Amino acid sequence: MVQRAPHTESLPAGTPSGVVGQRIAEYRVESEIGRGGMAVVYKARDLRLERTVALKLLAPELARNDTFRKRFAHESRAAAAIDHPNIVPVFEAGEYEGVLYIAMTYVPGQDLRALLDREGPLPVAKAVRIAVQVASALDAAHDHDLVHRDVKPGNILVARGTDTDHPEHVYLTDFGLTKKSLSLTGFTSVGQFVGTLDYVAPEQISGRPVDGRCDVYSLGCVVYEMLAGAPPFRREDDMALLWAHQYDPPPPLSGERPGLADGVDAVLSRALAKAPEDRYESCLRFVSELRAAALAGPEQAPERGGERNGRRVRARGPSYGPVEPPPSPPDWALPVFRDMD
Ligand SMILES: Nc1ncnc2c1ncn2[C@@H]1O[C@H](COP(=O)(O)OP(=O)(O)OP(=O)(O)O)[C@@H](O)[C@H]1O
Ligand SMILES: [Mg+2]
Repeated sequence: MVQRAPHTESLPAGTPSGVVGQRIAEYRVESEIGRGGMAVVYKARDLRLERTVALKLLAPELARNDTFRKRFAHESRAAAAIDHPNIVPVFEAGEYEGVLYIAMTYVPGQDLRALLDREGPLPVAKAVRIAVQVASALDAAHDHDLVHRDVKPGNILVARGTDTDHPEHVYLTDFGLTKKSLSLTGFTSVGQFVGTLDYVAPEQISGRPVDGRCDVYSLGCVVYEMLAGAPPFRREDDMALLWAHQYDPPPPLSGERPGLADGVDAVLSRALAKAPEDRYESCLRFVSELRAAALAGPEQAPERGGERNGRRVRARGPSYGPVEPPPSPPDWALPVFRDMD
C-alpha cells in the first residue's frame, strides 16, 4: 500500500489538514480535537501500542525555522523527561515528511480557555485549585531548567479529577512551543500569527533573557483572568497591549471582582511586577500567598443588586458561582500549604 503524504496545500495558516484517516509515522489519525495558530491536534491511534494518543502536527513553516527546530528538539526532550502529575506526558516528538509532530497522552476534557468562555469568572476556591496544579507543574519544569514561555488558558487542560475533594485534574502542555519569542525578537516576518499576547511577560517583549519568572508573570495573568473574567490588560491593538505589559500598572483585581479579600491585590501586583526580580521567586510561592490572602476574608457571593454591609450594591458582571469550602490539597501540593498552618 502506498503511504500518502499528508496533504498540506489548502490549509489556512499552513497547518496540515485532510489527514484524518491517514497514517503519520506510527499513528493513524482519527479525528480533529482542535487547532491553534500553529498546529492542529488530533485524536490518533498509536499502532504499535494500540492506544489512543493526542497527535499534534505543527505548521510546516515552523519546520523551516532553524531556531524553532532546535528548540523543538531540545524542549520536547526536556519536557518528556519530566515526570509530573500535572504535565502532559510526551511519548514521542519527531518529523514525518517535513511535518514536526508530537505524540502525547490524550487528555479528555477541555482546556481552560473553553472553561472560562463557558463559565466566566470562577469561584475563588476553584481558581486556586487550578492555579496550584499549574504552579506545581511550572516549578517542576523550572527545577529542570525548562521555561514554559507560553502559559495561557489554551495550554492548560482541565480533566475530571479523582473525587469531590479534587474535582479537576489539570495538565500543562506545550513546553517551548511558542513562536512568540522568535517573533518578538524578529525571527519571523511581520504579520505572522504569533498567538495571543494577553499573557506575555515584559522581558519576552523586550527580548531580554527569560527564566522561570516569565512563567510567574503569565500565570499571574491567567489567575487574574480566572478571577476577573478577563486578563489584566485589554487594548485595541497588539502594540498597545505590548506597551501595557511593559509599562502600565495592572488594574487592581478588587475593582474587577467584587467581594475579594483585601490582600489579593498586593499578591497579584507582585506576580505581575514588570521586573522579574520584583516577582515571586516561584509559582507555588505565588499561589500559596494568593490562597492565604483570598481565604483570609470570606468571599462574598456576587451581588446582583441587593444589600451588602447595609449598603445598596449595584448589580455588575456575571455570576461567580457559589462559595465552595477549600478542599484539602493533594499530597504533592503540600509544600504550598506547609507554612500556612
Ligand atoms: N494532549 C491533549 N489532549 C487533548 N486535547 C489536547 C491535547 N493537547 C492539546 N489539546 C487541545 O487541542 C487544541 C489545540 O491545541 P493547540 O496547542 O494547537 O492550540 P492553542 O494552545 O489553543 O493555541 P496556540 O497555537 O496559540 O498554542 C486545544 O483546544 C487543546 O485543548
Ligand atoms: Mg497549545
